[in-house]
Amino acid sequence: MLFFQRTKWLTDLYRNSSLYLCRCNSNKPRNVKDKLKNGPGLKEFIIASSEITEPYVLDPPNIPYLTNYPQIAETRKVFFDVYGCQMNLNDTEIVWSILKKNGFEKTEVEEEADIFLVMTCAIREGAESKIWYRLDHLRGFKRRRALSKNRQKPVKIGILGCMAERLKEKLIEKEKAVDVVAGPDSYRDLPRLLALTDSGQTAVNVLLSLDETYADVMPVSLNENKVSAFVSIMRGCDNMCTYCIVPFTRGRERSRPVTSLVEEVRYLAERGVREVTLLGQNVNSYRDVTQQTGATDTQLAKGFKTVYKTKKGGLRFADLLDKVSAIDPEIRIRFTAAHPKDFPDEVLEVISDRPNICKLLHLPAQSGSSAVLERMRRGYTREAYLDLVDRVKQKIPGVGLSTDMICGFCGETEEEFQETMSLMEIVDYNVAFLFPYSMREKTTAYRRYKDDIPEEVKKDRHSRMLELYRRKCQALNEAEIGNTHLVLVEGSLKKTGQIIGRNEFYLRVVFDQAEIVSEDNGRRLVKPGDYVAVKITGARSSVLSGIPLYHTSISQFYREVSWGERSCLKQI
Ligand code: 5AD
Ligand code: SF4
Repeated sequence: MLFFQRTKWLTDLYRNSSLYLCRCNSNKPRNVKDKLKNGPGLKEFIIASSEITEPYVLDPPNIPYLTNYPQIAETRKVFFDVYGCQMNLNDTEIVWSILKKNGFEKTEVEEEADIFLVMTCAIREGAESKIWYRLDHLRGFKRRRALSKNRQKPVKIGILGCMAERLKEKLIEKEKAVDVVAGPDSYRDLPRLLALTDSGQTAVNVLLSLDETYADVMPVSLNENKVSAFVSIMRGCDNMCTYCIVPFTRGRERSRPVTSLVEEVRYLAERGVREVTLLGQNVNSYRDVTQQTGATDTQLAKGFKTVYKTKKGGLRFADLLDKVSAIDPEIRIRFTAAHPKDFPDEVLEVISDRPNICKLLHLPAQSGSSAVLERMRRGYTREAYLDLVDRVKQKIPGVGLSTDMICGFCGETEEEFQETMSLMEIVDYNVAFLFPYSMREKTTAYRRYKDDIPEEVKKDRHSRMLELYRRKCQALNEAEIGNTHLVLVEGSLKKTGQIIGRNEFYLRVVFDQAEIVSEDNGRRLVKPGDYVAVKITGARSSVLSGIPLYHTSISQFYREVSWGERSCLKQI
């Protein structure tokens, strides 16, 4: 069994060609294929990934490459550039935590920086283009520094995240300016990789892991005094939707143990964080297999299937929600992203039950056509999806829904696109992320289908979707005028000085600063981190405006209203 697992691990590793350590100034790259030929074991892989030449002793839980490496010569200031999703923001906080512990400093001023770390995204071509553009700029900056009187402190450029994983060769061989390339599972290795660059080497580690969750790394927020925080609960994805590169760049799905998550949320609560978003590629398939409960496994709902074997035993997403939401009833809990297949009744019940779990559910449909969904390998039909929407609405009265939609996927006909439009008409999404399809190398669609929808057709469909979405949102939001929303205050707008916060559906709500009744019946101004009851007086498609009524709390706001009868935004 152990042998099988290891063989499979090595096969996966080889297939993804993820380990690619390179000394650009000297030898040819040594790749995994060569190492496999000589029959290395797991231990050798761990050594190899560090390129440590001295003998060492594997001494778990210490990973040798994290303790035995040359230190970077002197204190270095790091400038972070973050592209892509919330997961990338959280990963950058993990990276910053690791570097801070190793004596690095952070700066937000380009001229002060010695190291630029670019957290990249590979999900669509557009995301990648922005990063190439930024790299051009950094290359110029590096050249100028090399010619300046400050040249004894050369600039280093590091590429982190999904693009690093996808484009390792191109980044090193063609983009000569890049000094470090680190994939999503090798951030612990960054201090060593950066130290290697001191002697002019290019350092690369894009090894994907089966178990790295950074469970023991407490992310350090890039932005101090934040009201909300992200907590990664799992990494990777096993779903293999045919259009998606994520399983190739982020690797196999693995969950962080509940205990470390509860600890992190407690820590955040003690520091005044009022809202926690649980993050992962597919949070609702969360499974902490370190805790065996003996509970029987829930079946997937009728009409849903997966390409992988469903996991057995362990603590599931419903258990995690239960534990995390109980830590502090005044901390709002959100989560993203989710897959429609993993919404058993237990999950819906705990969401419905807990006032502090936001009643906005992400149900990414991707398409409204069963034929397109089949080509996308989403594992459900339009009908099964609509049944799920009904079940969700019935279990969580007043629930809000969000979605991701793709138009112009391989072979999408106008009729199939119209089915997406009709799904958007039927479902009343509060939030939608709409994308024109962008073919990615390595994906199943790349190998199996033709990217045959012309760019102008994709563009046209995309703008029709956007138009429909905005019109529907405008109507949904206008219907809220006159209602009172619970708003968590985030800060103020630079331009107008107005207060800005978010309601339960993550919609922005703006209002004028005012002294309003406080919890102890005095009066005080509104500040970030406050929960305020706001009467909605104006609506646009992506923002509401209102009048602040009084300071409140989650429990006070919803006290009089039973969950079954309430609309989750309104207070009577
Ligand atoms: N093209 C367009 N959109 C994509 N997404 C994922 N891959 C692609 C692609 N190749 C979208 C999906 C996913 C979201 C995060 O990005 O809608 O849910
Ligand atoms: Fe990509 Fe599908 Fe996984 Fe989402 S569920 S990350 S779309 S493969």
